[in-house]
Amino acid sequence: MEIQHVSSTLTDLDHDLLVLPVFGAPEKDPTFKALDKARDGQLNAIAERENFGGKSGQTLTITGNGSGPGRILVLGLGSKRDFKLTSLRDVAARASRFGKAKAAKRVALAVPNQTAKNLERAIELVAEGAHLGVYKFDKYYAEGKKKPNRIEQFDFVVGKAGKLTAAQKRKSTAAIKRGEAVATAVCRARDFVNEPAAFLTPSQMVAEARAIAKANSALSVKILSEKDCEKLGMGMFLAVGQGSDQESKLVHLTCKPKRAPKKRIMLIGKGVTFDSGGYSLKPSASMEDMKIDMSGAAAVVSAMSAIAAIGCPYEVHAITALCENLVSGRAYKLGDVLKASDGTTVEINNTDAEGRLTLGDAITYARAQVDKANAQKGAKQIPVEMFDFATLTGACMVALGHHTAGVMSSHESLVKGWLNAASRSGEDMWRLPLTPRLKDQLKSNIADLRNTGERWGGAITAGLFLQNFVKDTPWVHVDIAGPASANRESGATPKGGTGFAVATIVEYLTR
Ligand code: BES
Ligand code: MN
Ligand code: ZN
Repeated sequence: MEIQHVSSTLTDLDHDLLVLPVFGAPEKDPTFKALDKARDGQLNAIAERENFGGKSGQTLTITGNGSGPGRILVLGLGSKRDFKLTSLRDVAARASRFGKAKAAKRVALAVPNQTAKNLERAIELVAEGAHLGVYKFDKYYAEGKKKPNRIEQFDFVVGKAGKLTAAQKRKSTAAIKRGEAVATAVCRARDFVNEPAAFLTPSQMVAEARAIAKANSALSVKILSEKDCEKLGMGMFLAVGQGSDQESKLVHLTCKPKRAPKKRIMLIGKGVTFDSGGYSLKPSASMEDMKIDMSGAAAVVSAMSAIAAIGCPYEVHAITALCENLVSGRAYKLGDVLKASDGTTVEINNTDAEGRLTLGDAITYARAQVDKANAQKGAKQIPVEMFDFATLTGACMVALGHHTAGVMSSHESLVKGWLNAASRSGEDMWRLPLTPRLKDQLKSNIADLRNTGERWGGAITAGLFLQNFVKDTPWVHVDIAGPASANRESGATPKGGTGFAVATIVEYLTR
């Protein structure tokens, strides 16, 4: 599917599908009016008959009449005032998804003109959305059931008709490429999340990370075996995986820029490839979806390919401690006391609060990497920032719902920078406090900490548990339990794995 910025007059287009977004009543839209005039008022008559008012989410399909486009899809966008630039991603996705469903070869999208003042960003979002819209995890369908994407050409029109200058063309091409790089990474993260745990084991994730590193010269990868992790004293991480026959693994990807980096950024992703809950066993309905519990790992690993492709001025590390949380004669138990790699002892009062255990040791590993780099002879001391992404708590979903990630941090400027990137990328994130008083809930009688607090404030106590290992490193915790997967399709987001956080990570690191 080739995406192109074209500058034709909309009434001249003869694509298989023309997608025309409108804000409210279609008869007020100049393009709709022009198309209607060319078809002797038929369009208006159909809109009236179908009671189409251009409300948000409403659609109207008009079949062609032999000349001009084969089909017109009018997309209602609701009020102009409520429209955000990032909604263009959803608009383009709806266009390509419809084009794919109708087996169109050539699709044209009329991009709303008011986005022209932010032209390059608009183009990025259109390219991103067009790709995201045709995504489908169909690997396990029978050949005959797979629906191929027949779109060869996805053209979009924005701004005035008339030939594009060479400079405009160059800018458009660059913006399209960036949008495609982001979409490729998001789709890869979706695949990782959608893959059953029987396939996407810790070892398979290692193979995927190796493949990503191999494909880009800016990337390198290091893998730690269980033995390596034992040597580092990762008693929390290894305990979670010890009930599984799959070996636990730690993946460490690095992206180094050509010039001296300005910052060192540590991205940590929760990589529990299946979470049964362990002996604090989840009920079947809650366990059904727990192959998604490596969505944080999926996001940080996939984002590395995009930042390497786009180019990033920072030294970026993606780290994920991969394991399965299962029950067996070897599994960890309630009441066990684990020793973390930073020396902290932790009493287990719930084996289903496993994510924070794996993340705690991954955080200590990340901090050690920073110390190692800083201690190197002649090393330039550069600022460090740490981010973790985790499907950590059901409590976060209770607080914020299915679409919004919970963000926790005690570093004001860092969290502001992060939330700004989220709002530019259009991903919903909302800050929760790291209320110090709740630390009491994590006190143990027999160890330094226990791993689980009370029911109330569950997202926060999980964050506070992690903070214990972060110490004073500038850090932002992102709980993606809600938005990592979706139970229905909407805009650019499909059912199942969403690839959430990839777009914001790339936005933060490359702009
Ligand atoms: N992976 C789950 C959290 C989760 C729940 C993610 C639903 C996505 C959807 C996590 O390991 C977990 O089980 N958390 C427990 C923590 C509790 C035992 C303190 C939870 O949220 O119930
Ligand atoms: Mn769990
Ligand atoms: Zn979990």
